[in-house]
Amino acid sequence: MDTELFQRSAHSPSYFELARGMGDSGRPLADFCIPCNPYFPTPEMFNELAKNLDMILKFYPSDSATITARLARILRLNPATLAMSNGSTELITWMDHLWFRESVAVPIPTFGRWTDQPLETGKRVDMYPLQETSEFELDIDAYIRFIRARKSRVAVLCNPNNPDGGYLPRHEIVRFMDELADLDLVVIDESFIDFVEVERHPSVATDATIRPNVVVLKSLGKNFGLHGIRFGYLVANPALAGKMGRTLPKWNLNSLAESVVFMLEEHAAEYAESLELIARDRYNMGMALARLPELTVYSSQGNFLLVKLAPGIDGIALRDFLLSRHQVFIRECGNKLGMSSQFVRLVVRPEQDVVRLVDGIHDYTRGGSLGIVRSVS
Ligand SMILES: Cc1ncc(COP(=O)(O)O)c(C=O)c1O
Repeated sequence: MDTELFQRSAHSPSYFELARGMGDSGRPLADFCIPCNPYFPTPEMFNELAKNLDMILKFYPSDSATITARLARILRLNPATLAMSNGSTELITWMDHLWFRESVAVPIPTFGRWTDQPLETGKRVDMYPLQETSEFELDIDAYIRFIRARKSRVAVLCNPNNPDGGYLPRHEIVRFMDELADLDLVVIDESFIDFVEVERHPSVATDATIRPNVVVLKSLGKNFGLHGIRFGYLVANPALAGKMGRTLPKWNLNSLAESVVFMLEEHAAEYAESLELIARDRYNMGMALARLPELTVYSSQGNFLLVKLAPGIDGIALRDFLLSRHQVFIRECGNKLGMSSQFVRLVVRPEQDVVRLVDGIHDYTRGGSLGIVRSVS
């Protein structure tokens, strides 16, 4: 396994790069790195897509207004308040170009593009460090005080946050938006909101549509289990959403994305069931990991669990060991701002994969790592 792959960027190597690097190892990779819904689309949906693949690949997709209108119908939102993109990262890039003028406040750790994109275009990024001592919980009032003290003009908040899965109740986010109505922009990244279990209607998307300066962002790769298709959207008042829609390139959405969007309505029940299965797996996986004395598991409302390793266990060595010996791929967090190699992020997966993960960690802590000396306490 070529571990140089991990040094290339702040993000993990793709599944394809890893699979190529591993050659034919005999068993498929158990991917605990990329936070993807394993229960959706269903095998029947994949069969349907496969059946139509030649048409999907040969023909141009419809324009994005047509696809966006269909998504708006599913989400029960006014289409004028939506803009769809080729992955939500595309929207982060364009938001930075259009609306981040001088400074942006971002709690860290979080998804790396929220800090890296504005830094790459010369903006000031006011990083608000979440504290391990408070289990990375975001204190809204303290964050607002920080934004005021730094005079940040844009504020970002991911709910639930990546990599810790911390979730703030809807009424707290509404208060946050109200307090910051004078900023150039407030961005609420709800890419993991469908996995929230503790509140029935956690999204503030409709609240964004009636505010002058709020954008809600959503990646669709995670919850629909389709990162490869690259689709996401934003919700905002019609002026902001319209501006973004006019800025994005024509035909920025591909025919696979279109096919999936047009399949969603009739598969709503399977989608809802997939989220219930993930909530069940999150609980069971959390319990299984918490039984390992070398791990501290943080509570999460996302489809991943942040885990702290005991002193003496290094995340990089553990990642490389699990990958090469057990074909288990985990996200070591040393290259995330505000984290260290003592932390790993583990995507919620079905029980049989968790058994493989736990066996691999046992193997590592019992000295299976070819004599690497560790002082597990
Ligand atoms: C919080 C958050 N927002 C946005 C994204 C970007 O997702 P994509 O570009 O695949 O839609 C990610 C990816 O991990 C994320 O964690």
